Amino acid sequence: MPFIEHVSDADLERLALERVVPALQDFGFCYLDGVLGEVAGGEVLQQVIDMHQAGVLQDGRLVGSVPGVHRSSIRGDKIAWVSGMERGCEAINFLLNMIDKMIAVCASRLESKKIRERSKAMVACYPGNGAGYVKHVDNPNSDGRCITCIYYLNKDWSAKEHGGVLRIFPEGTSFVADIEPLFDRLLFFWSDRRNPHEVQPSFNTRYAITVWYFDSEERAEAKRRFKNLTDSSLKQSS
Ligand code: OGA
Repeated sequence: MPFIEHVSDADLERLALERVVPALQDFGFCYLDGVLGEVAGGEVLQQVIDMHQAGVLQDGRLVGSVPGVHRSSIRGDKIAWVSGMERGCEAINFLLNMIDKMIAVCASRLESKKIRERSKAMVACYPGNGAGYVKHVDNPNSDGRCITCIYYLNKDWSAKEHGGVLRIFPEGTSFVADIEPLFDRLLFFWSDRRNPHEVQPSFNTRYAITVWYFDSEERAEAKRRFKNLTDSSLKQSS
């Protein structure tokens, strides 16, 4: 194990129970700073920089396309999906294990949520050319995603100079929450319509890693819907 055990499992459990669960229940989002520490956080950053330099980060995709609207005017990030088991992703895997542990503790307290699986990790880079991501909801139509977790990797970030702030517009309130994408910060929020959010134009290279945790029932239902849809369109075309 090349990493220093910065936070013990008991600390993770305490953070999850005392900070994350109440904040999710009361506000719908929560962030923690210094979750991996300089060394392990630095290793994650280096792996992401290596991926970027190796050219594996590609244009982020949109669900649908709108004629006449350029993709990069909606989202300007470059991404790659990783499981953590790939060579060169050991530190990312360490991060994912840490987030999994915290979410497992949270799930045991968040009633009516059965969280047993998650997406792969999306490694994302906004290249610093002023690109951002317009206001959107991650899961507007019950695709199963329940909690979004974003780990930020940007040292010496100045929101004034570099922008790149994540602005959350909590549903039903008149306030916004501005979250700077600072190194070793881990953010949690409900993925559904409660949390529309945008990434403001970024004028410096901005790295983050995102994972989405699924509510098992909503996910199973979404898969059933998708299957029915594809079955019926196959029938129509045959
Ligand atoms: C997204 C997103 C926020 C961020 O990728 O859907 O909104 O702060 N990311 O990177």
